[in-house]
Amino acid sequence: MIKLEHVTKIYGQGEEHLCVLEDVSLTLRRGKFTVLLGPSGSGKSTLLNLMAMLDKPTSGKIFIDGQEITSLKKESARSALRLNKIGFVFQFDGLLPEFSLVENVDMPARLRGKPDLQAAKHLLDNLGLAAMAHKLPADLSGGEKQRASIARALRNHPPLLLADEPTGNLDAARKVQVFEDFARMSREQNLTVVMVTHDTHAADYADDVYNLENRKLVKLK
Ligand SMILES: Nc1ncnc2c1ncn2[C@@H]1O[C@H](COP(=O)(O)OP(=O)(O)O)[C@@H](O)[C@H]1O
Ligand SMILES: [Mg+2]
Repeated sequence: MIKLEHVTKIYGQGEEHLCVLEDVSLTLRRGKFTVLLGPSGSGKSTLLNLMAMLDKPTSGKIFIDGQEITSLKKESARSALRLNKIGFVFQFDGLLPEFSLVENVDMPARLRGKPDLQAAKHLLDNLGLAAMAHKLPADLSGGEKQRASIARALRNHPPLLLADEPTGNLDAARKVQVFEDFARMSREQNLTVVMVTHDTHAADYADDVYNLENRKLVKLK
């Protein structure tokens, strides 16, 4: 599904340079829930942004479904691939306050000219949020909003879901709910989920677990 070969990422140049990832190789299994752990500042977001084609490695190659994304020169090619293959969930839900939950979830499809509120509603059902579909984000809890943002990331049916500290703002019970959702969705929908977090508790719910430390990835599970 996604493969990194000898990926190195260095920010800046000369005296000021900072090597964040050094010769990292990784193969993610399709339909599995992978957790990448590491303390704050260890390079987790850097790694995820490389997978999402939001940034480029200094050296090394990255493949998605056998296609080498690091050799794609045109931004248009990268954004097309991103749109079709990748859903992204951030720490902040980013829901639009003036739209209902179901409208928010449908937004990625609407941007592609293919709105379908029923399909968006179905995604909310699947995350236990059916009763909230017509509420505004302001009337929901933090956990509900974050799960709605997961539904939104899945709206265009990407095979790969990348999540950067999606539970950073949630209490323990709501965190567990998100971890369980990721584990269940990867299993039921053959979805490849990669979540980065500093919360080691997430490891209990994952199929594969890696730790990022001193610029290297170490497999823990
Ligand atoms: N665009 C950038 N330019 C320079 N340094 C950066 C940039 N992005 C991140 N860094 C640095 O790289 C290191 C890893 O950052 P990051 O990937 O955000 O870590 P994490 O997500 O694990 O907290 C940090 O020291 C951070 O300051
Ligand atoms: Mg980060």
